[in-house]
Amino acid sequence: MNYAAPFAANSLENHWMPFSANRDFKVEPRLVVKSQGMYLWDHKGGKILDGSSALFNVALGHSRPEIAVAVHAQLLENDYSPFFQMGHPGGFELARMVSNVLPDGFEHVFFVNSGSEAIDSALKIIMAYNQARGEASRVRMVSRERAYHGVNIGGTSLSGMVRNRDAFPLMMPHVAFMRHTWLPENRFTRGEGEHGVELADDLQRIVDMFGAKTIAACFVEPVAGSTGCLVPPKGYLKRLREICDKHGILLVFDEVITGFGRLGGPFGADVFDVKPDIITMAKAITNGAQPMGAVAVREEIYDTIVNAGQANVIEFFHGYTYSAHPTACAAGIATQRIFADEKIFYRAAAMSEYFLDKVYALRDIDLVTDIRGIGMMAAIDVKPDGAVGTRGTAMQKKLFWNGLHVKFTGDAGIIAPPLVAEREHIDELCHVLRTTLESIARA
Ligand SMILES: Cc1ncc(COP(=O)(O)O)c(C=O)c1O
Repeated sequence: MNYAAPFAANSLENHWMPFSANRDFKVEPRLVVKSQGMYLWDHKGGKILDGSSALFNVALGHSRPEIAVAVHAQLLENDYSPFFQMGHPGGFELARMVSNVLPDGFEHVFFVNSGSEAIDSALKIIMAYNQARGEASRVRMVSRERAYHGVNIGGTSLSGMVRNRDAFPLMMPHVAFMRHTWLPENRFTRGEGEHGVELADDLQRIVDMFGAKTIAACFVEPVAGSTGCLVPPKGYLKRLREICDKHGILLVFDEVITGFGRLGGPFGADVFDVKPDIITMAKAITNGAQPMGAVAVREEIYDTIVNAGQANVIEFFHGYTYSAHPTACAAGIATQRIFADEKIFYRAAAMSEYFLDKVYALRDIDLVTDIRGIGMMAAIDVKPDGAVGTRGTAMQKKLFWNGLHVKFTGDAGIIAPPLVAEREHIDELCHVLRTTLESIARA
């Protein structure tokens, strides 16, 4: 196959690419023209191992025929029908399936189109809940340094990744930030660090400062993903739960990356044995084949908002044209079936030890300053070279041409292969990482 042909026919000028150095990319384009299983192919015919499940979403490997067939059939049967004051079977079926894999008590699932929309929808659910339960003074949200909660205005307001908010001065007011959980004492720890549980007391300090009655919710990623796999210190999430319980604050786990097996259990809530009040998810819910996100809430939140007023009026004035889009539901149903049939969450747990052994073996490389990991996710920090992110961006490009996709944020490479990876894929991944890092160290 001539992979160059479709590329040669196109201009790169018109597409303003997201989260990209547009000018640099257009000088040295990296187009993916095919993806299958564990691999991507570029426009020059190069074969690239997918070391980050694309953007942490393609958990089952690329172009799964079961998902493609389901989406195709759905398009021919009912390409689109709205979910406002009417419905289609797929939305109900998928909500049931997702609820089945969530921790007990999450019986209600609200569909959206992305992780960012899941966060903004969660914010509105929290506001509506507090209004309905007579706690309207709870307007303040708590987030954390280095947090990533998507890029809509709500999520950007909660963002602890400074570059993601730098250029956008008009944000939601009343957001307080806890410290992040990266500590030098925990460097190269596998799983949860021994140090830092007391960082959870930042939430108590925010309560002491502003008063519990002003605080609505505390948002955390169980493992901060996009900033570079910050695994929480031992006991940290449990302590956050206790402080939330003491003060009537809702605990939100943003599981957009950590949901659906990534940490070696169905959700981070299961892995850390801490039950939040709200879980946001997206990414692997459809294996990346269709855009979709969701918010799941505990019974009491749903009851308070939905079962409070008159039965024949809309209870929650929120939703998107494409909430529970039929093709996204078809992709989601097919994905959830594969998760169950192939016991993917167990598989991820079983492969984790091998994966982490191999990744942590890279610590002897001179450029590597820290490694963190849990389940099937890890991050490698490399020594910066000038401005933060310069080396990371260069590394990501070099790895691509060397046959490996690893997503870098700043100078951290985030390694999260599809959960169907075999040992030989992990070996290949770590081999390319080692040779590339060593060649940069020598240069
Ligand atoms: C924890 C978390 N929340 C929200 C988002 C935003 O998701 P999306 O890019 O689908 O809007 C992401 C994306 O990486 C994420 O990691």
